[in-house]
Amino acid sequence: MPLLPQDIRKFQNKIFHWWKTHRRDLPWRHIHDPYRIMVSEVMLQQTQVSRVLPKYTEFIKSFPTVQSLARASTSDVLKIWKGMGYNRRALYLHKAAQIISKKYDNQFPPSIQLLSSFPGIGTYTARAILVFAFKKDIAMVDTNIRKIITHFFFKDIKQPEKVIQEVADQLVPTGKSWEWHQALMDFGAIELKNVLLLSPFTPNHPNPPNLTKKIPFYESTRFFRGRIMDLVREKKWKEKELIKTMIRKHGKDAKFYQDCIGKLLQEGLLTHSSPSIISLPE
Ligand code: ADE
Repeated sequence: MPLLPQDIRKFQNKIFHWWKTHRRDLPWRHIHDPYRIMVSEVMLQQTQVSRVLPKYTEFIKSFPTVQSLARASTSDVLKIWKGMGYNRRALYLHKAAQIISKKYDNQFPPSIQLLSSFPGIGTYTARAILVFAFKKDIAMVDTNIRKIITHFFFKDIKQPEKVIQEVADQLVPTGKSWEWHQALMDFGAIELKNVLLLSPFTPNHPNPPNLTKKIPFYESTRFFRGRIMDLVREKKWKEKELIKTMIRKHGKDAKFYQDCIGKLLQEGLLTHSSPSIISLPE
């Protein structure tokens, strides 16, 4: 859908005007190092800014460069990741750093195709690295940006990904891609919920009712996996002792924990350091 130049300009002005008084100061906005941008973006994928802030600082202190992360042991990377959840992200970051270090001589290739071929780096994160580190004039679309475009250009009626990307591409102000996306991130985090709450469009297009029952976090498999990882971060365990301790602390039965541990082993988050001893991978 081609936009009119005056509509593009009007929307850019609206977002930048709002941003003048709402801009957040965040540590990854003071740097253009693609490695640090990658770390912040991977952390921000599934974790709120308030929880990322202390972890980002700690992570960068421990692993200040792509080379230092590449050289670290998996267990040290997983130990720093404690409290972030979705531990696989830590493994992916570690592997991506090793590829960049070995195959690319510690230099990030400024290409969407190459970056998105690294573990844990999707199109969004690849584009984020190009925009925030290399200041490329390309458009990134995350969940909030998609909602912003759907609201202001399509009256809150869902559109295919391709249509949203085409609009996003047209909206990027030449030479100001960095500022534009940081502004959209802030608008999405702070203002979007108010905009949608007051939207004149939503009553006519209510979302279909969500009939799937949401289980609380402390009953989810992710919760129990996290507690297993926390115990193994502290020390090595005989598998039987680990399972017994989990049952005593969190209920459930041996079969449940055998399955959880089996999956964590398969995913490379845990290892057998000797036949029945469970530890973090070195
Ligand atoms: N989420 C993802 N990237 C972000 C950024 N640069 N600032 C704030 N929130 C974000």
